[in-house]
Amino acid sequence: MSIPIVIDCDPGHDDAIAILLALASPEVELRGIVTVAGNQTVDKTTRNALKVLELGGRADIPVVRGAAAPLRRPLRTAAHVHGESGLDGPDLPEPSAMPSDADPADWLEPGVVLVATGPLTNVARLVQRGVRIDRIVWMGGAIAEGNITPAAEFNAFVDPEAAAAVFGSGIDLTMVGLDVTHKALFTRAHADRLRRTGRAGRVVAELSDFFQHFHEERYGFDGSPIHDAMAVAHVIDPSLLETVHCNVEIETASRFCDGRTVVDRWHATSGTRNAHVGVDVDAARFLDLLHERIATLP
Ligand code: BDR
Ligand code: CA
Repeated sequence: MSIPIVIDCDPGHDDAIAILLALASPEVELRGIVTVAGNQTVDKTTRNALKVLELGGRADIPVVRGAAAPLRRPLRTAAHVHGESGLDGPDLPEPSAMPSDADPADWLEPGVVLVATGPLTNVARLVQRGVRIDRIVWMGGAIAEGNITPAAEFNAFVDPEAAAAVFGSGIDLTMVGLDVTHKALFTRAHADRLRRTGRAGRVVAELSDFFQHFHEERYGFDGSPIHDAMAVAHVIDPSLLETVHCNVEIETASRFCDGRTVVDRWHATSGTRNAHVGVDVDAARFLDLLHERIATLP
């Protein structure tokens, strides 16, 4: 039986690949997508989500336009990583479907996993409304260094107040952070292999070609971490990740460390164990899964 999921995202190259991975995987059933401002404005991330669903042949899946700005801060986007459109690289046709006016709370029946791959603004709003959420798997945060500041990962940094609300909610929460996503690089060789498989494979290769620029320049990586796809992959196959159940607190009031996810991996404090934090990944199996599944798309 497949696990119903809702993806809350800001596509975004790796968000787009995460959506395609979900569409191509029988272990999960994508009920709907909610967009959030993050990598780009919410208008752009919404258009991108619609484009990706059309590419995957699933324009029937509803897309709800979510928050246009973080709870209490001005929006900070990542055009330096994802381009002006939020999905620079491949030439995707304008979508014909329109955003839905559904209430995503109605999708979150018992057993549904909310996979969040952007800032947690929408998720925090659901928490504030008292909406019951069984489980959240979030790509964001880092035990070690950040990527938007030395201390913070992008999704946590954009809306730390939202992250604090979600981590304080008591909901079953898994954090798939940079410590694991940076261990699995999708290289040019991976892209070239996928480029030959079909239209979706070619688009993913082109997304990776663009995404690669930032990672090559900043880190000297011979590839890109497909961060958000790892959160979906963890739902598809939990054995890909090793996690530690521990306390995580979010810094919201610091000149240098705003958005830092302070992970008490070794239980140095008596803080509540509020998150399952990814500490290791079977990178080869994750990258194989990504290739194998995307290659099945038309
Ligand atoms: C996260 O930030 C975004 O730029 C990516 O889409 C990913 O969700 C990685 O830090
Ligand atoms: Ca994202």
